[in-house]
Amino acid sequence: MEVESVLVTGANRGIGLEFVKQLVKLPKPPRFIFATFRNESTAKALQEIQDEAKQTEVVLIKMDVTEAEDIDKAQKLIEEKVGDSGLNLLINNAGVLRYQNFFDITEEDMLFHFRNNAIAPVMVLKKMFPLLQKAAARKMGGMSVSRAAVLNIAAFLGSVTELTETYPEKWLTVMSYRTSKAALNMAMRVVALTVKDQGVLVVNMCPGWVKTDMGTENGLLEIADSVSSMMETLARLDESHQGVFVNRKGKTIPF
Ligand SMILES: NC(=O)c1ccc[n+]([C@@H]2O[C@H](COP(=O)([O-])OP(=O)(O)OC[C@H]3O[C@@H](n4cnc5c(N)ncnc54)[C@H](OP(=O)(O)O)[C@@H]3O)[C@@H](O)[C@H]2O)c1
Repeated sequence: MEVESVLVTGANRGIGLEFVKQLVKLPKPPRFIFATFRNESTAKALQEIQDEAKQTEVVLIKMDVTEAEDIDKAQKLIEEKVGDSGLNLLINNAGVLRYQNFFDITEEDMLFHFRNNAIAPVMVLKKMFPLLQKAAARKMGGMSVSRAAVLNIAAFLGSVTELTETYPEKWLTVMSYRTSKAALNMAMRVVALTVKDQGVLVVNMCPGWVKTDMGTENGLLEIADSVSSMMETLARLDESHQGVFVNRKGKTIPF
């Protein structure tokens, strides 16, 4: 995979951090990686990657994805760096999960998940879209991640079809998370169809159940394996994938 500039949200730990690690190690790594974090005290691993990266300028950006002002500042900084080349790839990765079943659910809990998992990725994409358009305009032909794309880190748990009566009851306790990820899928499907003629690929991908703080140690996949699998799939994406919901290997997940 060859991509000149990438923005990864929630890059200080978990899947986001692993994306940054693997991107700098590509045979032809990006010229720029914009990696966002919320608290300086949690950005040590990112700082190490920044210090060690030889061919990539790793730009660390403080950004809460629910704060419009942070997103504005990030956009300006990225624009200054990439200039007319635009931004090739946005990875909407930041996300939250709390356990709460229907009987304990609160409006606050549902809004919290919606704000972070569904609304924020849309707002980040909306702000970065002109930069993605710039990148898309520089390369003619088909769609690809090297040209211009947004990868939304979606979740299998957001599939309505997959939630059947056979599902373990425990998994009903992530009601707000599921609902917000289903909303993310729909929002990004709408965006994908809206921008389909503009050269910007929009894809929703589930990383699998991964051993991160969110996925817990019960996760089935190591972080490195999940991300390398997603990177392989990313390299193969084209216009036939506009608006899809797929797993890390590129297999379609029903909405
Ligand atoms: N792990 C899994 O099994 C799994 C499965 C399916 C989908 N996913 C999705 O994969 C993505 C990454 O998850 P993960 O497992 O790596 O989770 P994680 O280890 O809990 O990391 C979450 C990341 O998101 C950041 N974040 C949360 N809210 C944010 C906000 N408002 N603004 C900016 N950053 C924010 C966190 O920053 P702080 O450190 O500042 O909190 C952290 O960097 C999420 O979208 C998640 O839903 C994960």
